[in-house]
Amino acid sequence: MIADKERLPEHIGFIMDGNGRWAVKRGLPRKMGHREGAKAFRKIARYCKTIGIKYITFYAFSTENWRRPEDEVDEIMRLFGEYLDEVKDFEKDKTRLIFIGDKSAFRDDLRVRMEEIEKSSSVYDEMTLMIAMNYGGRDEIVRAARAAAEMAVNREIKPSDIDEKLFSGLLYTGGIPDADLIIRPSGEKRISNFLIWQSAYSELYFTDVLWPDFSPDELDKAINDYASRSRRFGGV
Ligand code: IPE
Ligand code: IPE
Ligand code: MG
Repeated sequence: MIADKERLPEHIGFIMDGNGRWAVKRGLPRKMGHREGAKAFRKIARYCKTIGIKYITFYAFSTENWRRPEDEVDEIMRLFGEYLDEVKDFEKDKTRLIFIGDKSAFRDDLRVRMEEIEKSSSVYDEMTLMIAMNYGGRDEIVRAARAAAEMAVNREIKPSDIDEKLFSGLLYTGGIPDADLIIRPSGEKRISNFLIWQSAYSELYFTDVLWPDFSPDELDKAINDYASRSRRFGGV
């Protein structure tokens, strides 16, 4: 149960980690863990909508995850395609979908579908769901720097116009508020290249629960913990 509905985070980021270990613990192939993880993702996204979270970001596949065995990467892409197929449901969900990350690495059919979904869901503002696919925080910052440099070379801006506001507008998350709370299950205590600019003042929550077991109850715990913290942003 959420103790204080007045102190909900506006934007929660989830690092969906621990799928592989969940499967291995059960003597199953790692890809079964990704299947269960995909179910947890749907459940948690729906739950966030019911409790009134405005922005949620799920880290699904990093720029580094291509290093994994081909069959594992294939299964993750297959599950992602499956989700894109069913996502037409956002019509009744009134959810805006944004895919953050470098889309150019994906098969044409996936990329086209991602762009179509972003376009047709852009009219909704009840909740914004971001999925980080082929996403890397460093890659995102380098791209933004490149875009700013190009604008300067084209004389659209002066180098001295580049400030935090302009720069953050050039990130994949341009226009989206920074993450208030970042949740990482699976026992690892690191950010792994997720939202590194946007997490400058995020509250971090770590739990040993593996992502496929991450339930609405676990999310309540994280939100209650968040509500008890004092965010100072450098002040007193
Ligand atoms: C997270 O689970 C899913 C992706 C990175 C795609 P993992 O597959 O990293 O699970 P563990 O960390 O091996 O348990
Ligand atoms: C982070 O998990 C990436 C995603 C959850 C998509 P990893 O399993 O890739 O992170 P590391 O390798 O443990 O840092
Ligand atoms: Mg992992």
